[in-house]
Amino acid sequence: MADFHLLTTDWYRQNKRDLPWRNTNDPYYIWLSEVILQQTRVAQGLSYYEKFVRNYPTLHSLASAEEQQVLKDWQGLGYYSRARNLHFAAKQIIKEYGGDFPSSFLELKNVKGIGNYTAAAIASFAFKEPVAVVDGNVYRVLSRCFDLSTPIDTTAGVKEFQELAQQLINPAYPDIHNQAIMEVGALVCTPKKPDCNVCPINSMCLAKQNKTIEYRPVKSKKTKVRQRYLHYLVEDSGHLHLTKRTEKDIWQNLFEFPLFESLNEKDFQLKHEELSNKSIYHSEFITHQLSHQKLNVIFYHMTEISHAFDNGEVFKIDIEQLSDYPVPKLIENYIERIINERK
Ligand code: ADE
Repeated sequence: MADFHLLTTDWYRQNKRDLPWRNTNDPYYIWLSEVILQQTRVAQGLSYYEKFVRNYPTLHSLASAEEQQVLKDWQGLGYYSRARNLHFAAKQIIKEYGGDFPSSFLELKNVKGIGNYTAAAIASFAFKEPVAVVDGNVYRVLSRCFDLSTPIDTTAGVKEFQELAQQLINPAYPDIHNQAIMEVGALVCTPKKPDCNVCPINSMCLAKQNKTIEYRPVKSKKTKVRQRYLHYLVEDSGHLHLTKRTEKDIWQNLFEFPLFESLNEKDFQLKHEELSNKSIYHSEFITHQLSHQKLNVIFYHMTEISHAFDNGEVFKIDIEQLSDYPVPKLIENYIERIINERK
């Protein structure tokens, strides 16, 4: 077990990427980086981290911002509940902790949006508390190194990996230890084609010995993808007509075009026939993949839009005002297309 710590941390000291959140002990910046990096690759998260540090240099500046502005700054990163929770939590920390960031794993877990992973990351990186982080990288490295076949998406799996990760941690260097495992997972022990030749723990890797690397980690179920069927109406004028999504659903509090949603493929076809007859032009069939949903989408250009839709009040803005309104990537891409076509 001591080998695991020494081998990974020695390798980390020599091979780590120089990332901005690794040069700070400030829990606020560490929190920002960890929330941005959940389900997001470093290459994509980096510019968002820099933008958030620039636009919200302190916890107070984030807490006093408008949620709509925070969502606008988050635009394109996906999983918008992270941004809503981040903003809510900033206000919560000011109200409940007088603006002092909670400094222990257990206290951190009381904060909105902070679960086991984020609490362990902040507690170990900022406060050197010896709690193990377990994210996707850690599951992969541990399941391979110890050749564990317990599915990671089960209660038993979560417990087993958490306990193993906790046993491995060196209380003298919990921060470097945690960063090191994650970095091995990100740079060497990758999901596909891991680079075992340069891996610091290849000599102790049981999955390598047993030739099971490609089967680790094990998951019990496939993620189910829900199909959604969206018809968006676009008024063919110099303006944009938007509505706000207020339901507890994807893109809550973001803006989009007036929408009809069909519940299945057959209704989608029927509604398409109706709307394509009324429209002056419609886009091709577009698909847009989210993590758990596949969106099937057509945009219909109308000369005029009435007020009967599925998604709330319509209002009109100039295209230049779009910088005030957070919109999903799907809508952003389509607006860019309209702008280019009008040029
Ligand atoms: N992914 C999640 N947290 C990370 C971190 N602190 N550094 C690099 N990648 C990460």
